[in-house]
Amino acid sequence: MAKKLYIETVGCQMNVLDSELVVGSLRRQGYELTQEPTEADVILFNTCSVRQHAEDKIYSALGRLRYHKQRHPSKILGVLGCMAQKDQALVRRRAPHVDIVCGTGQLARLPELIAEVERTGKPQLALSLDRKAASRTEVEQSFESYDPLRDPSMRPSRFQAYVRIMIGCDKFCTYCIVPQVRGPEQSRRPDHIIWEVQQLAAEGCREVTLLGQTVNSYNYRLGDGRHTRLSDLLIRIHDTPGIDRIKFITSFPRDMSEDLLDAVRELPKVSPYLHVPVQSGCNEVLKRMKRLYTVEYYQEMLARCRERIPGVAISSDFIVGFCGETEASFARSCDLVATAGFKNSFIFKYSPRPGTKGHELFTDDVPEEVKKRRNNDLLAIQNGVSLADHLARIGTKVEVLVEGRSKTAFKHDSSTGPIQLTGRTPTDHIVVFEGNERLIGQFVTLAIREATAFTLFGDVVIEEQVGVEQNGSQRFPAAPLEISVPRVSLPLI
Ligand code: 5AD
Ligand code: SF4
Repeated sequence: MAKKLYIETVGCQMNVLDSELVVGSLRRQGYELTQEPTEADVILFNTCSVRQHAEDKIYSALGRLRYHKQRHPSKILGVLGCMAQKDQALVRRRAPHVDIVCGTGQLARLPELIAEVERTGKPQLALSLDRKAASRTEVEQSFESYDPLRDPSMRPSRFQAYVRIMIGCDKFCTYCIVPQVRGPEQSRRPDHIIWEVQQLAAEGCREVTLLGQTVNSYNYRLGDGRHTRLSDLLIRIHDTPGIDRIKFITSFPRDMSEDLLDAVRELPKVSPYLHVPVQSGCNEVLKRMKRLYTVEYYQEMLARCRERIPGVAISSDFIVGFCGETEASFARSCDLVATAGFKNSFIFKYSPRPGTKGHELFTDDVPEEVKKRRNNDLLAIQNGVSLADHLARIGTKVEVLVEGRSKTAFKHDSSTGPIQLTGRTPTDHIVVFEGNERLIGQFVTLAIREATAFTLFGDVVIEEQVGVEQNGSQRFPAAPLEISVPRVSLPLI
């Protein structure tokens, strides 16, 4: 009988992709996925360490499995990813029943580690080098990833996929643990990326989202002095038959170059959507965060993006309650949200991370209740801005890629007629509409009828409906693939 694998993922899109790769490699070893941890022979947690809360969740999940592991000692329990790399042997001190601790840069070794636990019964640690422990090249090599081994069944949908174009980060913002847990910034070879996109297209994927912590810093240097920038890569990916939509996340404000903005404007398949976190609206706070720009620089960058890419949608991240954030500095973040016109903002309460400069140099001096209040206040301002943006879209027509059934809307029985579906526009707006389940994975034109701060509601524009011929038969045979999606808690970052 096939062995069973359970995997739970927290954190960012990088983690979702890593889990896809882990499942891909374990399926090749004969494992089958299960949604029930207690049924599994191997139980894996792919973890996040960007905020304390994400780590607490994992330690309590591990705690809940302690008794189960005592009763079934042959079951293998693994902690993967950022928290594994950050806490290392501490994971086993806090949860001694864990068999495998495997960092982000070592996931390719997982089948071997599982086999080793089975053979010896001994715990296995696989970690990349600490950034200060060796030369940059040695540390880089210890973080190598293994992207082409993919498993389409692990994707939230088979027609959308993440493609990693970079790993690591060299920015060292003072609050952030990512440079430690994901290692030095490294751009992937363009030909490997193109090959992977072609493979995805051959499997029926229509939208790719290129991933990098600072994706617009992508720069692959060839030995002869030539180099490939993100704009060059977008031009090459644009030529891939079958790929209809290209997105990229997350951008760093200082690296929003003219060639990139021109590429986004000129290439019709590239979505006019940018995620460019600002983090704070106060120059003093930005300086303590070591973000390397001022609010004025950021605002000028926003203006440049809007001038160069008509209709571009921009979203942002904010941290509230960073060390030394006064009411006056917070008010500057409120002013920025009120005026910047972000499509949406992800707002986080500062969580001190041991191992970062921020933790070493500054005191976490904003009380939790104040962080909570500032979080709510900033969100309320952003919601007002998002609502105004959404209301202005009523009456317009948009093209969405249909992602699936709406989770929030009222559910109908699909056999008796239309159901509530959701799709996303090129500007990353979510639209809920009624339609046939067979539209999932297709591009459909919708007329926007209603809006809330979070969602647009629309109706299918019949004449322009993609994939439906005059006699009503489907041009695409695409019945939605029944896929078993692992439990993913998003978005933590
Ligand atoms: N505390 C709170 N939020 C953080 N982020 C990164 N590090 C921290 C931290 N220590 C947020 C930033 C980043 C997003 C992915 O997570 O806003 O853009
Ligand atoms: Fe963290 Fe992003 Fe700063 Fe890199 S650029 S250190 S990932 S916040």
